[in-house]
Amino acid sequence: MTNSQRGTVTQPLLALPGDLDPQRLPQHVAVIMDGNGRWARQRHLPRVVGHQQGVETLKELLRCCRDWGIAHLTCYAFSTENWGRPGLEVEFLLTLFERVLRQELQDLMREQVRIEFVGQLHALPQGLQTQISEAVALTRHHQRVWLTVATNYGGRQEIVRACQALAQQVQKGELTPEEIDETRFAQQLYTSSSPDPDLLIRTSGEMRLSNFLLWQIAYAELYVTETLWPDFDRGSFHQALIAFQQRHRRFGRL
Ligand code: FPP
Repeated sequence: MTNSQRGTVTQPLLALPGDLDPQRLPQHVAVIMDGNGRWARQRHLPRVVGHQQGVETLKELLRCCRDWGIAHLTCYAFSTENWGRPGLEVEFLLTLFERVLRQELQDLMREQVRIEFVGQLHALPQGLQTQISEAVALTRHHQRVWLTVATNYGGRQEIVRACQALAQQVQKGELTPEEIDETRFAQQLYTSSSPDPDLLIRTSGEMRLSNFLLWQIAYAELYVTETLWPDFDRGSFHQALIAFQQRHRRFGRL
């Protein structure tokens, strides 16, 4: 399904910088929030302080999307590979997610943010799963900005899961192998109800996708900045959008 076929949200544009063309904004921005640990190390602080500051950056980016009329923001909060970090850091991160969700729920409601989580959520601590279910249920009718948080997410795992679902349909005789096409495949992904990202931002300079939205970013514009995630502010996002608007998106055509 193309972005134009999927439902989009019409929003008022507040304070969009004059050098950005409101007609050519990305509809969906995805972010790999990298560099929290380095930000903390530079300040001789524990790594977890970088993650705490990273939450503030995410909140500001969400406000920016709301103000500038960008309907979808997807962030990579915890990858399936992140379990390999030291136990204390993993525990801190998962506890942080739960606390932030609890503390921010009222603001999410007030700001008309719809929050959704993608990934293997059943493997998360029970308290976090409960908080996720509550936040998702309470915000599901909001239309202003749609925040998707990839948590215990891996792009390859998502693709394998989609293959398994389609194979089961074939096994039950509901589908023939020939009927499997890109649209049917995409319908089995966690992200089936949102448009594909137009812009993928990665902070802290690494030129990697790190198993994030592998199917969905097929035609996304990639923007990598040396800025560490906790320092990625409104001005940095503005620069990313200027770069995006300077790209000529061809989708494989001439
Ligand atoms: C990568 O930096 C960052 C993470 C693994 C965690 C990002 C999570 C947040 C900002 C919190 C989001 C919260 C909610 C509720 C959505 P890093 O640790 O890899 O930094 P480094 O590369 O400098 O070591």
